[in-house]
Amino acid sequence: MVTDNSPAELAMDVEALLLINQGAEARVFESSFVGRRSIIKERFSKKYRHPSLDSKLTLKRLNAEARCMTKARKLGVRTPLLYSVDPLLHTLTLEYVDGVSVKDIFLQFGANGIFQERLDDISSQIGDAIAKLHDGGLVHGDLTTSNMLMEKGTNQLVLIDFGLSFTSTLPEDKAVDLYVLERALLSMHSSCGNVMDRILAAYRKSSKQWSSTWNKLAQVRQRGRKRTMIG
Ligand SMILES: Nc1ncnc2c1ncn2[C@@H]1O[C@H](COP(=O)(O)OP(=O)(O)OP(=O)(O)O)[C@@H](O)[C@H]1O
Ligand SMILES: [Mg+2]
Repeated sequence: MVTDNSPAELAMDVEALLLINQGAEARVFESSFVGRRSIIKERFSKKYRHPSLDSKLTLKRLNAEARCMTKARKLGVRTPLLYSVDPLLHTLTLEYVDGVSVKDIFLQFGANGIFQERLDDISSQIGDAIAKLHDGGLVHGDLTTSNMLMEKGTNQLVLIDFGLSFTSTLPEDKAVDLYVLERALLSMHSSCGNVMDRILAAYRKSSKQWSSTWNKLAQVRQRGRKRTMIG
């Protein structure tokens, strides 16, 4: 029988894999790794690219993601533990984080017992975490509320999805990182009020390089506004 299972599915015990997210460049499965609940993130090829070039690029991104996630952890930001990297199957195996995405929490604000206090706590954890990354020379690259989980029990913020992360000490890169988050919050979570202000206040408290980032952010916002006006 012909199946369209991915290489990762074929090589591993298919029964043990549960697809939980199908993205544009990766599939995410729930599985178990030596008895521990885990996540398998499989990067797949882009059909329009040359196969061997594609494989090289995919592997490069996979390694970069693993490196950046580990670096973030060293900088004191909670991320999933990295269990293994498979360069042939293009997979990362990570610790499963039992949590709820910040996206879901923010969307439920006002209902289901999500109150201002909770929002404030989450916002300040976000600001603090980004400041730690940025001061350590790491840019997340995809700061959206779906890439942030609040761990059940500890209520600790866990940053995930370092697939677009890179190392940089440029204020410009850090400002763009914050701007992406600002836009995401405005478009998706406008009912949550001034969460970005809270995030920036916490960032300012934690970061030693606040003023250069802040100045750049003003410029990046202005560029964004101009672009919107031009259409
Ligand atoms: N370590 C983890 N523990 C629990 N859930 C996770 C973990 N990693 C990823 N997930 C879940 O899988 C989803 C997709 O993961 P991730 O963002 O890393 O992949 P992605 O393909 O880049 O996703 P997208 O393109 O949708 O942003 C997350 O939003 C989250 O719900
Ligand atoms: Mg993601």
